[in-house]
Amino acid sequence: MNDDQTAAGPAENLGEPAIKVLMMPRDTNVHGTIFGGVLLSHIDQAGAVHARRMGLDRVVTVAMDAVEFKLPVFVGDTVSFYGETARIGRTSITVLIDVWARRFTPERERVHVTTAEIVFVHVDEDRKPIGIVRGSAASSEFD
Ligand SMILES: CC(C)(COP(=O)(O)OP(=O)(O)OC[C@H]1O[C@@H](n2cnc3c(N)ncnc32)[C@H](O)[C@@H]1OP(=O)(O)O)[C@@H](O)C(=O)NCCC(=O)NCCS
Repeated sequence: MNDDQTAAGPAENLGEPAIKVLMMPRDTNVHGTIFGGVLLSHIDQAGAVHARRMGLDRVVTVAMDAVEFKLPVFVGDTVSFYGETARIGRTSITVLIDVWARRFTPERERVHVTTAEIVFVHVDEDRKPIGIVRGSAASSEFD
């Protein structure tokens, strides 16, 4: 069983994570757990990787929904960020990022940390919004 596999539970059907990160001592807050801002940064990166997988080479983050961290993340945990397309608009793509931590314990249990929703806008070289072509690689997974 590799690090993305789990014996049971909803995580098993999530496919390949957009990114996976080992949490380091530099990522901690004053209480010794992982700083929420570090996880938000990884959520943003995972969303951008997902958008690129969908064929959108240049996107910027326009909005992120309120994020609720249900459980703490610890140094040594391996955290997987899974992307899923929730909506494709005229110029924007809404991505759900599901965050799961694999504990660095003998049991290696897997816990759900949060699900975040991010809206990216597809932009040109001048950072102006441009349309997402329906039927392109960008929207085929959604269609
Ligand atoms: C993203 C940006 C290019 C949008 O420019 P804009 O002139 O507001 O563009 P529009 O009003 O045409 O909106 C573009 C799309 O974004 C969506 N959008 C805009 N603001 C939004 C918000 N607060 N929440 C969700 N979607 C939003 C619009 O609904 C539209 O989607 P659609 O075309 O699929 O219907 C501009 O706001 C920007 O450059 N922001 C900074 C981005 C950035 O640097 N992010 C990194 C953090 S510093």
